[in-house]
Amino acid sequence: MKNIIAERMDKVPESFIREILKVTDAAHVISFAGGLPSPDTFPVREIAKACETVLATDGQKALQYASTEGYFPLRQYISGRYMEKHGLKIKPEDILITTGSQQALDLAGKVLINPKDKVLIEGPGYLGAIQALSVFSPVFKTVLMKDDGVDLEGFKKICSKNAIKLFYGVPNFQNPSGITYSGSVRNNLALLLEKYGVQFIEDDPYGELRFIGEALSPVKSYYKNGILLGSFSKVVAPGLRLGWITAPQNIMKSLVIAKQAADLHTNSLSQRILYRYLMDNNEDKHIQDIIKVYKYQCDVMIKAIEEYFPDSIRHTSPEGGMFLWVTLPKKLNSRDLFNNAIKQNVAFVPGAPFYANGGGENTMRLNFSNSSPDKIKEGIARLGKVIKKMLK
Ligand SMILES: Cc1ncc(COP(=O)(O)O)c(C=O)c1O
Repeated sequence: MKNIIAERMDKVPESFIREILKVTDAAHVISFAGGLPSPDTFPVREIAKACETVLATDGQKALQYASTEGYFPLRQYISGRYMEKHGLKIKPEDILITTGSQQALDLAGKVLINPKDKVLIEGPGYLGAIQALSVFSPVFKTVLMKDDGVDLEGFKKICSKNAIKLFYGVPNFQNPSGITYSGSVRNNLALLLEKYGVQFIEDDPYGELRFIGEALSPVKSYYKNGILLGSFSKVVAPGLRLGWITAPQNIMKSLVIAKQAADLHTNSLSQRILYRYLMDNNEDKHIQDIIKVYKYQCDVMIKAIEEYFPDSIRHTSPEGGMFLWVTLPKKLNSRDLFNNAIKQNVAFVPGAPFYANGGGENTMRLNFSNSSPDKIKEGIARLGKVIKKMLK
């Protein structure tokens, strides 16, 4: 029988994390592998109330088909928040509500990428973006991350040798590394994007989860032609599946058509419930509560790493978000470490799949948002023992 699966699927990687989660989901495993927010932070009661109010007051509209662009008051809310937090002017009309920011990535790929187009991505970079953009058969190039963000010298080199169409990056508390672009990196990146005529997909689901230092404006503040993605998954709840994309008008037009073709519109009941929740509750206070939890868990993880891991190991010190990144001595392969660690019932994600062009075999991602402080201490201690044994 002829292969019925379209060629475009040939190079799409299976989600490595989903594979790992099959092994690590068992209750007795301490898992730093997933990328889940802490369920204790979900505003369950408040959402229940919002749900009741929406159905009682606007039930028919909430259950009817709705506009592709999304619920206008929610788009106004997002626009207002960009202005309030960053003095960034983005009109509600330039915001398209999507089924999580993951759908925004799919739509952006659909609208912008022809087969063989060169797409630049951070190394390490977000696996979900590698997967979503792979569907459109680009040629990936990787630019490495430094402590203060993307390596601009590397960026320059790659862009001067290749016709890069698109750069995808996560400037705040990056998934997977926890690294944040400094103000100067943002500014200079904007100049380089302009110089080389590269479109930027700026993905920012973690920006509001800053627990150290001052908020930095999105690269979009410096590079007006950029595309900016956001999400309610990490500040309210991922199950609502609500995110957004904002883009220059010529691109937005195609995004709306692609969205219409994909699913007509994002769940309108969900959009109205979220909006009601945002109107009836103090979102800033809620985010402060989440930050307190994550900061503590991150501190506990770093302290435990410094206590239980050998000195030859390096780790990032995130200023927010949900992840940190560990670099092991070169001779230690993190997949082998994973295989040994899982026997001790502790899990993480090996780093190699986060590099679209290979590398990173001695790195790993640790999630700190979804384990209790006690579990974090215990899991890191177990991991430390395994690492020390393998290094002997
Ligand atoms: C960098 C990044 N972008 C996008 C997403 C997708 O988020 P959602 O579709 O829930 O908005 C995630 C989820 O973990 C992420 O880490």
